[in-house]
Amino acid sequence: MPELSELNINAVKESFEAALKSVTNLETLDELRVRFTGKKGDLTLLLKSLGKLLPELRKQAGQELNKLRDEIEAKLNLTAKKLREAENEKQENNDRIDVTLPSKGRTAGAFHPVMQTMHEIINIMQGLGYSVATGPEKEEEFYNFECLNVPKWHPARDMQDTFYFPDGTLLRTHTSPVQIRSMLQYGAPLRIVCPGKVYRRDNDTTHSPMFNQMEGLLIDKNVPFSVMKGTIAEMINAFFGRSLKYRFRASYFPFTEPSMELDIECVECSGRDPHCRVCHGTGWLEVGGMGMVHPNVIRAGKIDPDIYNGFAFGFGLDRMAMLKYGISDLRLLFDGNISYFMSGFEEAKSC
Ligand code: DAH
Repeated sequence: MPELSELNINAVKESFEAALKSVTNLETLDELRVRFTGKKGDLTLLLKSLGKLLPELRKQAGQELNKLRDEIEAKLNLTAKKLREAENEKQENNDRIDVTLPSKGRTAGAFHPVMQTMHEIINIMQGLGYSVATGPEKEEEFYNFECLNVPKWHPARDMQDTFYFPDGTLLRTHTSPVQIRSMLQYGAPLRIVCPGKVYRRDNDTTHSPMFNQMEGLLIDKNVPFSVMKGTIAEMINAFFGRSLKYRFRASYFPFTEPSMELDIECVECSGRDPHCRVCHGTGWLEVGGMGMVHPNVIRAGKIDPDIYNGFAFGFGLDRMAMLKYGISDLRLLFDGNISYFMSGFEEAKSC
């Protein structure tokens, strides 16, 4: 029968204490745990041998062994806790942020293509002596229609499906009301461009209920038609960065007489591709409307049309941005849907 005496118990206890002193990290502590309390550990073997003791000795030895086991486990746990705390502290010290270090810099954001287009056109027009004017998006019928020679009965009111507020005001359907507000505010002579959001009841792949326009107005004495043509051509060529073919097509707007629409040579195929996805084989792209300001409009701006005349134009900024940057789907400009973005991006890359 194996001897389980106080001697063995003390020997295990002492060797545990000695070994514990040399523990420096969690790994060696784990080895120690296995050496004493593992399946074949010194303490475990002692406990196993209890059954072989004479019954009269078993009780006391059992108590002592249990006490030793509790003691060993408590010490192992306490040491583990201390080691973990020390390791955390070391880690924290390593990770400490030095707020005095210079920063790594930030990646700059970029302008939205429509805003970029807006700024580019403003720059070009400022070079031609134009100033920027703005007006409210929630507009009065008076400025949006009446003053622009579009009386209530006028069929042109059907041309623009309008968002009305219950009080009779509306979301402006174009930037043209800023023409009137600016004439009233600044008088003549006047050269302004008015960028901004406009709203119509439209929503499909080529129309959005909100889009951006750039209005222009020049009022002076004896303004010839040719100045309008020259100004528009200058703006388009400077914006696209090359000399494009353009043509004026006779059109109708209530606020100008005569009125025209401007078509430019297709920026994608220059009229060479009968299957072009941008011009659909026509070779031309419609970019805006313009004309010599109607005397009624000049009068609504409290300027004498017998002394002053001028021209006005209105361009779609979103369309200009799409043409310049090769964006084929209008929704890419306003929608957060990443799938439109990815397909549009692939298309843009392959251009
Ligand atoms: N307001 C017109 C539209 O929204 C665009 C326009 C055409 C503006 C001719 C003008 C102009 O100033 O002269 O469709």
